[in-house]
Amino acid sequence: LHFDFSYIFSSTVCKNQSTCLPLDPDLNKIMAESRDYDELLFAWQGWRNASGRELRSSYKRYVELANLAAKSNGHTDNGAFWRSLYETPTFEEDLEALWKDLEPLYINIHAYVRRALYKKYGAERINLKGPIPAHLLGNMWAQTWSSIMDLVIPYPDATQVDATPAMIAQGWDPKRMFEESDRFFTSIGLLPMPPEFWDKSMLEKPKDGREVVCHASAWDFYNRKDFRIKQCTVVTMDDLITVHHEMGHVQYFLQYKDQPISFRDGANPGFHEAIGDVLALSVSTPKHLQSIGLLDKVEDNKESTINFLMSIALDKIAFLPFGYLMDQWRWKVFDGRISSSEYNKEWWNMRMKYQGLCPPVPRTEEDFDPGAKFHIPANVPYVRYFVSFVIQFQFHKALCEAAGQPAPLHNCDIYQSKEAGKLLGDVMKMGFSKPWPEAMTLITGQAKMSVQPLMEYFQPLIEWLEEENKKNGDVLGWPEYDWTPYKSKLGVHESTLKRWFTAQFPVFY
Ligand SMILES: *[C@@H]1O[C@H](CO)[C@@H](O)[C@H](O)[C@H]1NC(C)=O
Ligand SMILES: *[C@@H]1O[C@H](CO)[C@@H](O)[C@H](O)[C@H]1NC(C)=O
Ligand SMILES: [Zn+2]
Repeated sequence: LHFDFSYIFSSTVCKNQSTCLPLDPDLNKIMAESRDYDELLFAWQGWRNASGRELRSSYKRYVELANLAAKSNGHTDNGAFWRSLYETPTFEEDLEALWKDLEPLYINIHAYVRRALYKKYGAERINLKGPIPAHLLGNMWAQTWSSIMDLVIPYPDATQVDATPAMIAQGWDPKRMFEESDRFFTSIGLLPMPPEFWDKSMLEKPKDGREVVCHASAWDFYNRKDFRIKQCTVVTMDDLITVHHEMGHVQYFLQYKDQPISFRDGANPGFHEAIGDVLALSVSTPKHLQSIGLLDKVEDNKESTINFLMSIALDKIAFLPFGYLMDQWRWKVFDGRISSSEYNKEWWNMRMKYQGLCPPVPRTEEDFDPGAKFHIPANVPYVRYFVSFVIQFQFHKALCEAAGQPAPLHNCDIYQSKEAGKLLGDVMKMGFSKPWPEAMTLITGQAKMSVQPLMEYFQPLIEWLEEENKKNGDVLGWPEYDWTPYKSKLGVHESTLKRWFTAQFPVFY
């Protein structure tokens, strides 16, 4: 299936005639670090002009071709094909039930962050009862929010767990980050990366100016020898976590390499995404960071715990609705419930419904904002990340129990636990040869996806957030907004947008 999605990789946004900025690293850096409302808007809108808009017409053709291929293979449409990899007849209902369990926690973080943004950007920009403008959360797609930790930190005077300054001060480079990750995997008895990995991977952006796809990825060459990662690694704590994520994929490749070729895959796609993240949950603990010299003091008090859990929640909880809606949108596109004339409107309906976000400027059906997110033009299913963000806490809890680590769960570090490593290794060796509930049972002793371990991990933060929001008198959530009266060419009416930004405007339904 040939489809030209090179725009997403090579597009740039021009500030003036001489300076044009690529997404990675320049626009991403602005989104993460700028606190200037208009500069953020420039990067946000510029990227959508340069990528999504250009893709709209080819995306329609892509949908037709993807469906044709799926139907030829006996599926009703391409979304049904993607879902079939989970071999779960009740998959959609199961996910909705998980989301419903998680939604209250998300809504509490949303309200807390909205108030912090209100303090920063003021009442003209933030409606304390409405959705949050999508460009203020530290990330081009508002999918993870940890870059705005400085604006939302609960206790500025207590310990802050950002290892980036120490990594830079100690002269870490990308190679060192991968070696550190390799050390963690081998410490729990898993496999070291083979020589081919170190020789042939691309661990940083080429310095010769060659154009590359920077989006981090891990590759199995299916010859049982050659496994690589391609990542434009930057020396930050964030990228250290991504390194573990990608190394988790390669570990999985290595573990199931002796399976027949059709079983060389994850138990389901969410399992594949979860492995590295599970290790990263241990690596991120203040205790572990201190043990590898990246944190000099670890305080064991309530304030530091809340700061730490907030930093994790800005990634793991903020992400959940985004991880869920990406494929909600595509499933509906593939099966025709969303027509090509309403791509963008329905996209923003979902951004609003699940994430509580609104666009900072009016959008039209000339725009194609879903196309500005890599996985959509690149044909990569996404609900795997939602599944992963739930089950990785189930795995974490099971491995911590195997490692004999006492509660609380958020303090657990499985470093050097051969028992934990054995559990994980045994599951990975199975590859795709058994239905995933069997793999789940092998690790956790039961067959289902569950939000309980995630809730347990965040319990102190959940209680703190509820109290804090109550103290601030915050109205949780945002009004259900019905788009149907607005059957214009615009996805969003300008007057509607103005109301979203006006705090004085009463609650609207
Ligand atoms: C273009 O923008 C860059 C970055 O903001 C700036 O350094 C440069 O001076 C500008 N050039 C012109 C011709 O305005
Ligand atoms: C994006 O495109 C719109 C519509 O053409 C234009 O008004 C806006 O200035 C552009 N923004 C940027 C940052 O390129
Ligand atoms: Zn991945």
